[in-house]
Amino acid sequence: MTAAITAVAGYVPEYRLTNAELETMVDTNDEWIKSRTGIEERRILKGENQGISAMAIPAVKLLLEKRGIGAEEIDCMITCTVTPDMLFPATSNIICDKIGAVNAFGFDLAAACSGFLYGVTTGTAFIESGRYKKVVVVGADKMSAIVDFTDRKTCVLFGDGAGAILLEPNTEGYGIQDSLLHSDGSGAQYLRMPAGGSAKPATLETVNAKEHYIYQEGKTVFKFAVTRMADVCYELLQKNHLTGDDIAWLVPHQANLRIIDAAADRMGLSRDKVMINIQRYGNTTSATIPLCLWEWEKKLRKGDLIVLTAFGGGFTWGATLVKWAYDTKG
Ligand code: UT7
Repeated sequence: MTAAITAVAGYVPEYRLTNAELETMVDTNDEWIKSRTGIEERRILKGENQGISAMAIPAVKLLLEKRGIGAEEIDCMITCTVTPDMLFPATSNIICDKIGAVNAFGFDLAAACSGFLYGVTTGTAFIESGRYKKVVVVGADKMSAIVDFTDRKTCVLFGDGAGAILLEPNTEGYGIQDSLLHSDGSGAQYLRMPAGGSAKPATLETVNAKEHYIYQEGKTVFKFAVTRMADVCYELLQKNHLTGDDIAWLVPHQANLRIIDAAADRMGLSRDKVMINIQRYGNTTSATIPLCLWEWEKKLRKGDLIVLTAFGGGFTWGATLVKWAYDTKG
């Protein structure tokens, strides 16, 4: 028995933060942002006390509507995020409560930009074991909550969004075929939020020192991302006796167009087989991959082989091979 993706959905907030607006906030320019990252605008969740659940709830509601099932049928909710509504309780519990998923258990999973791949792999194991029949995996991040909008090195990169998929058992071999996941904690120093955890709880000093914002050594992260993401995609193809010609779509984490190109090149894939929406959403961390699937869903055909891949804070990285399970009408 395999675990198939049987529905996808997403949600992005209305507000568009353009490169032009960022030019009025920090010393940057549209040309630099576009040429170094590919980003033109990103969505920002506005409003008091609005956490990721405000995006995940509409995404999951749409998911259930598309699949035509009730919330009470969900067995498990996995929310992949580094920006939960609160450190605890898990945002999954809040989502389940608000949508009426009364029979589900839920937990949050933190693996930064690779979170969604880790969540899909975990959900797949639950389905393959035969223990659960309907697992929802959400990738949601409100990066604007932890971005320093006076730091031009990071504030141009990130955006807010949420995507969700439903995993169900399949007896015809469709769905998740294989997954290679990696992590290397020695990379923690290069991409992190320094304070707010148990090692350095919030104090007046940590707030004044801006330690509750993302810290990234971009160049170092870039070097690791380019090689690790391309290598793991290549490794996945080799392991499954496939070449780039067998792959219908590459769905890469959207952190930087140059990193995406490197992974596609290593697999021998042309650009028209690569899902890219970084220009409109920026880096939404856990949400990039499900948002791409949502946007491209109508172009996906039953039997298409698809590679999902990501690299991010941790360091964490991985690649997942999917045999798409359904055709979308319309
Ligand atoms: O998703 C999680 C994983 N994260 C990633 O994969 C991100 C990986 N890193 C990157 O994508 C790139 O390193 C960045 C896009 C973050 C930066 O691009 P870069 O080509 O590595 O630029 P850089 O950091 O080396 O900066 C080059 C120059 C610097 O100026 P000097 O020192 O050469 O005078 C920066 O100060 O560009 C300057 N700079 C900017 N200029 C205008 C940095 N940010 C900006 C900006 N606007 N927003």
